[in-house]
Amino acid sequence: MLRIGMLTSGGDCQALNAAMRGVVKGICSKRDDVEIYGFQEGYKGLIYSNFTMLTSRDFSGILTVGGTILGTSRQPFKLMRVPDENGLDKVEAMKHTYHKLNLDCLVVLGGNGTHKTAHMLSREGLNVITLPKTIDNDLWGTDMTFGFQSAVDIATDTIDRIHTTATSHSRVFIIEVMGHKVGWVTLHAGIAGGADIILLPEIPYDTNVIAEAINKRKAADKRFTIIAVAEGAISKKDAKLSKKELKEKKEKHPYPSVAYELAERIQKKTDQEIRITVPGHMQRGGSPCPYDRVLSTRLGAAAADMILDGDFGNMVGVRNNEIVRVPLSEVAGKLKYVDPESSIIKEAKMTGISFGDK
Ligand code: F6P
Repeated sequence: MLRIGMLTSGGDCQALNAAMRGVVKGICSKRDDVEIYGFQEGYKGLIYSNFTMLTSRDFSGILTVGGTILGTSRQPFKLMRVPDENGLDKVEAMKHTYHKLNLDCLVVLGGNGTHKTAHMLSREGLNVITLPKTIDNDLWGTDMTFGFQSAVDIATDTIDRIHTTATSHSRVFIIEVMGHKVGWVTLHAGIAGGADIILLPEIPYDTNVIAEAINKRKAADKRFTIIAVAEGAISKKDAKLSKKELKEKKEKHPYPSVAYELAERIQKKTDQEIRITVPGHMQRGGSPCPYDRVLSTRLGAAAADMILDGDFGNMVGVRNNEIVRVPLSEVAGKLKYVDPESSIIKEAKMTGISFGDK
């Protein structure tokens, strides 16, 4: 008997179900004696032994379904070693559930925080394999995470729609795209949607440079300006502050989000009307795009291969379109940032896009 535990952890994204389907189909094509334990709401289910026994039938018909049939939750890694309100040792509890159920392996679908815990569990002796999910595409060790292209599609569609209304009214529009630490979704959606200004966490901006770009467009008779800003974009001034100083500043002058702060700053330097659009969690919702369906199916099947090989302690990723097995020790705790000197940034700048830096 092959006993597999499975969980989805952290923020959801498109193609989580498709990836689990890939894993289960892959295994069931080779083995009949499989038991699948689906843990509810991520690591929470493993900690509190909250699971459902599933069969391959439960994974039929979910290729195109968004969200996750297992539910998910955020369980911060830094709190994993902190006992819960009843004094329960969460790490010991997870190990206990795993051993009690006699699992042969644990399949974890998640992003950065999730991988830190997965790595810890692997070092604690559990057979863990992971799949890279996140709209942010910021996981180290893989060129692509599933969820990313679907989110880019939605953010791009938002920018496309804003284009027409921005033109009609001769307005400046700020579209806030998800991504607190990294700007991949904003960068790709910004280029795909023809944004005039793209602001990323990795490239601190200067408000004067942004205002100049807007005013220059107006002087050239361009009727509107589209700014795609990542949730975590930061000004050059703020980037110089310590974490503590920045926190104090935000407490003193709170804004609903970065787009509102930016709007106030640039409004003083341009006479055009400014409007804000925040698609928010829409970017993580709905059906996966075809690219993500293919990627998650491939990664799922490759994960099944890893289980059948008994090759644990790895994330299954993709590099140069080839499937790779990346040790969790290489993935955990590292982020894949947008490199300000990379060719995609240079090419975007050549087409006239401003990143607010110079
Ligand atoms: O990590 C995925 C992500 O969507 C980020 O882009 C975003 O900053 C964050 O999650 C939002 O988190 P939550 O769903 O907890 O509001």
